[in-house]
Amino acid sequence: MGLLLHCVVVVHHLRPLHLLYLSAAGCASSIVADDCKMNSIIDMIDNENFSIISQAAVVTNLMNIDNDVELNEILEDGIGDEDDDETSFDNNVELPLTFTNMEGTNLTIDENWIMTQSTSKNDFTRELGKDSFKDKEELVRAIKIHSIRTHRQFEVIKSRPTIWTLRCKLYLQSGCKWKLHASKRKRSGYFEITAYTGPHTCLHYNLSQDHPNLDASLIAMETRHLIKEQPSISIPALRAEIVENLGYTPSYKKVWVGKQKAIKHVFGNWEESYVALPKYLGALQKFNPGTIVEWCVSRSNDVDEVEFRRVFWAFAPSIKGFHYCRPVISIDGTHLYGKYKGKMLIAMGVDGNNQILPLAFAIVENESYDTWDWFLSHVKNHVVKDREGICLISDRHGGILKAVNEHGSPWLEPRGFHRYCLRHFINNFYDKFRNS
Ligand SMILES: *[C@@H]1O[C@H](CO)[C@@H](O)[C@H](O)[C@H]1NC(C)=O
Ligand SMILES: *[C@@H]1O[C@H](CO)[C@@H](O)[C@H](O)[C@H]1NC(C)=O
Ligand SMILES: *[C@@H]1O[C@H](CO)[C@@H](O)[C@H](O)[C@H]1NC(C)=O
Ligand SMILES: *[C@@H]1O[C@H](CO)[C@@H](O)[C@H](O)[C@H]1NC(C)=O
Ligand SMILES: [Zn+2]
Repeated sequence: MGLLLHCVVVVHHLRPLHLLYLSAAGCASSIVADDCKMNSIIDMIDNENFSIISQAAVVTNLMNIDNDVELNEILEDGIGDEDDDETSFDNNVELPLTFTNMEGTNLTIDENWIMTQSTSKNDFTRELGKDSFKDKEELVRAIKIHSIRTHRQFEVIKSRPTIWTLRCKLYLQSGCKWKLHASKRKRSGYFEITAYTGPHTCLHYNLSQDHPNLDASLIAMETRHLIKEQPSISIPALRAEIVENLGYTPSYKKVWVGKQKAIKHVFGNWEESYVALPKYLGALQKFNPGTIVEWCVSRSNDVDEVEFRRVFWAFAPSIKGFHYCRPVISIDGTHLYGKYKGKMLIAMGVDGNNQILPLAFAIVENESYDTWDWFLSHVKNHVVKDREGICLISDRHGGILKAVNEHGSPWLEPRGFHRYCLRHFINNFYDKFRNS
């Protein structure tokens, strides 16, 4: 009964989000808090109640990546291009001669703007405050912000690494001939606006809630500095920043997507992250003597390379701390979302004050007998060691059951105990028997 009681206490914290939160706590207790980016990322995920844990957020934060990724890389990554609508431009569209269908729409003419808006390329670059741009990103940003500030909308007709062609979004609707073409100068490598037709003759919506050119890429660019400073910053706070600077209120979802892009930009991409993992864990070990890291790799075709399969780690303070914990270990797994999927496995202990102590983590390819067996044997060897009579609490995952019930298992009586987590059990029960 005592054990079941533990279970109820423990399982309350077993939801995936909290698993990761715990991992962050473990991180903080074992390495310098400043270095513990994972902490804030997890906070962020937790605060916003996302059930999706971005692998980027988790995995990349396990690594110490140089944050000062060159801005140029954003183009190579394709961030920023994703939202460019590359619909081909139909030159044969017939334009209406007159526009009489404005009644009933909420289009209004902004008299002030028409008077001041640029009529020539030079006027336009003067408005932008620049006539050449160090890369496409800088150009795209300037034009997007300009069109947002002036309540105009453009669409992309052509987007290549060296050229960018736009026209007014209301071209078909209202025949507005606003057009812009920019290209990369061969010699300087800078982008310049090489052709411009203006001003906008279209009528425009008065300040609306959102603006089509205020897309996730722009949001990412405009909020990157904030996210770099404080990855846990909330979506509403980012949205407030956008409203303050640009006057439009993008949707929550758009800001969320923008934030993911910014995180990816600030913290690095998938491949680099995996490549950095050995270095990062090596550094953790070096500065936290006693920290255990176990790799599981397979040979690849290339003799000099191995392929990542799994990694297990347990921080030294967790290993020491377990000595003073109750003889209970809870285990669970959670999804990693992202390019390379996978699962994160975690083992937790409970101290005398019923506080949870994260014990060990692993990133594995999936939840199976193989991976649970591998994880549990490392937990046994590196954390539990000689201690007997440990009660293991888990859900009823087939892989766990098989690993635990193996002959000679340290988790079976008389050496130990295995109990099911009541919360998982109840959830599964309700899933199966939907009738309340
Ligand atoms: C997120 O969770 C907290 C605590 O569980 C709750 O108070 C808050 O209302 C939730 N926020 C949203 C947006 O669901
Ligand atoms: C114009 O605005 C009014 C009030 O804001 C709204 O009720 C109406 O649906 C809008 N009409 C169109 C065509 O958007
Ligand atoms: C346009 O929006 C501004 C600010 O929101 C408002 O003051 C103005 O009255 C609006 N104009 C029209 C014609 O709706
Ligand atoms: C887990 O991954 C391994 C290696 O990729 C694969 O052979 C196995 O079938 C997978 N098991 C499950 C249950 O998905
Ligand atoms: Zn226009």
